[in-house]
Amino acid sequence: MRGKFITLEGIDGAGKSTHHAWLIDFLKRKGIDVVPTREPGGTPLGEKLRALVLSEPMHLETEALLMFAARKEHLDKLILPALASGKWVVSDRFTDASYAYQGGGRGLAEEKLRALEDWAQAGFRPDLTLVFDLPTEIALQRLAETGHRPDRFEQESQAFFERVRQTYLFRAHAEPGRIKILDSTESLHNIQKKLEGIILAYLF
Ligand SMILES: Nc1ncnc2c1ncn2[C@@H]1O[C@H](COP(=O)(O)OP(=O)(O)O)[C@@H](O)[C@H]1O
Ligand SMILES: [Mg+2]
Repeated sequence: MRGKFITLEGIDGAGKSTHHAWLIDFLKRKGIDVVPTREPGGTPLGEKLRALVLSEPMHLETEALLMFAARKEHLDKLILPALASGKWVVSDRFTDASYAYQGGGRGLAEEKLRALEDWAQAGFRPDLTLVFDLPTEIALQRLAETGHRPDRFEQESQAFFERVRQTYLFRAHAEPGRIKILDSTESLHNIQKKLEGIILAYLF
């Protein structure tokens, strides 16, 4: 049986990586063979492209094309083979992030992103997408507290993150069957309880 594909989304500092680790552990405890991965990245070539897009100044369309180039590689080498062999794949970010960051954040026309998505994915979508939602000022505060050096995206303005956040919320409202919103102002424990409910209700 084909595995399930779950993606985690949200602005920087919203809790994706924290809940990614928890979700992998939760699914393993349920006896599921699960592959953790992330975008941009997930393959040796994808990780090289990640290093470039997170550090190198570039044209907005170059950025979008590189994101989808890395995604094509990710699908072909890792995601689709794993799902075909019955494994589940849980990715820290996927295509919704392109709409939110390159689209909402940077202003790339949605039609261009849709064309790239159709080309690279041919209709393939996640089974479930979890959007961690948090006011931008709290996210920026949490990021600052981690003390790590901000990348090219994390250095963006609060207004940029507000546009990214609103794009995620807009997409979640447009596709409520696939995309679930989690309130990241809640405690980790409460969020995990909700995640548990969502996974059990939708995927088993
Ligand atoms: N619900 C929460 N309550 C309090 N702090 C949180 C919560 N979720 C995440 N954090 C903290 O916020 C910071 C950013 O979380 P992280 O998972 O790295 O976010 P992202 O991967 O979305 O950028 C981390 O220090 C993490 O411990
Ligand atoms: Mg992260």
